[in-house]
Amino acid sequence: MTALLEGHNVVMSFGGLTAVHDVSFQVQPGEIFGLIGPNGAGKTTLFRCITGVYRATAGKILFKGHEITRLMPHDTCVLGVTNTHQIVKPFQDMTVLDNVRVGAFFGRGWARGEVKDATREAMRVLEFTRLAGKAHALARNLTLPDRKRLEVARALATRPELLLLDEVVAGLNPTETDMMVELIRQLRDSGITIFMVEHVMRAVLNVSDRIMVLSYGDKIAEGTPRQVASDPKVIEAYLGKGFANQPPRAGE
Ligand SMILES: Nc1ncnc2c1ncn2[C@@H]1O[C@H](COP(=O)(O)OP(=O)(O)OP(=O)(O)O)[C@@H](O)[C@H]1O
Ligand SMILES: [Mg+2]
Repeated sequence: MTALLEGHNVVMSFGGLTAVHDVSFQVQPGEIFGLIGPNGAGKTTLFRCITGVYRATAGKILFKGHEITRLMPHDTCVLGVTNTHQIVKPFQDMTVLDNVRVGAFFGRGWARGEVKDATREAMRVLEFTRLAGKAHALARNLTLPDRKRLEVARALATRPELLLLDEVVAGLNPTETDMMVELIRQLRDSGITIFMVEHVMRAVLNVSDRIMVLSYGDKIAEGTPRQVASDPKVIEAYLGKGFANQPPRAGE
C-alpha cells in the first residue's frame, strides 16, 4: 500500500536553530495519525513544511507518491492537503458562512465552480460541523468551541484528502473535547485521513491509530497509543512520571 503522506529525513532550520531534525514518517490512507511532544518540539513547523508555508531545508515530503516539498500552500491545498491553525484565524468581520465559502472556492476541484455550488458545499460542511445554526453570525462573535469548529469547517470546505489538525482540542472543556473527538472520528469515517497535533492526551490517545513523538526536533518514538504512552523516552521527555503511573486503559 502506498502511504498517503511520507516524510523522508525532513530538516527545517531557522538560522542556527534546527526546529525539525531528520524526521521520517508515513501516514497511511484512512488512519488517524497523532503527533505529540513538548512545546517547541517542532510539531507546527513540520505541519508548515508539509503544507508549504515553510520549505524544508533538507529531506523530501511526498503526497500520494509525488514530491510536494517545494510546493506552495495554494498548490498543496488544490492537491488535497489542508491544515487548521493552532491560533484560529477566521476572517473576523465575515459571517461563518462566508468564511467557509472562501474555503470552498480555493480547494480541490472548485476552479470553475459557481457561487451557488460553493454555498451548497459550505452549508453541507456547516451541517457536518454543527454550525449551520450560526451560518449568519459574524466570526468574531463566536465562542471558542465554535471558533475551533469553524476552523475545521473552513479547512473541510477545501475538500481535503489529508487534514492536518493543529491543536483543535486545546482549550475545550471535557464535553466539548468529546464532541471534537467524535467529529474527528466522523471525518475519518467519511474518508479523510487525519494527521493531528495535540497536547490533550485524553483526546489524542483515545482517537489515534498511531502516534509519532517529537522532542527538540528529533523523532523519539512512534507506535500505537499504548506503546508510546508506556515508552520510557516519551515519559521522560514529555508525559512525566505521574502519567506512567496511570497509563490509559484499553479502549480509552
Ligand atoms: N519562523 C520561525 N523562525 C524562527 N524560529 C521558529 C520559527 N517557527 C518556529 N520556530 C522555532 O522552532 C521551534 C519549534 O517550534 P514549533 O512552533 O514548531 O513547536 P511546536 O512543537 O508546535 O510547539 P507548541 O506545542 O508550543 O505549539 C521553536 O523553538 C520555535 O521558536
Ligand atoms: Mg505548535
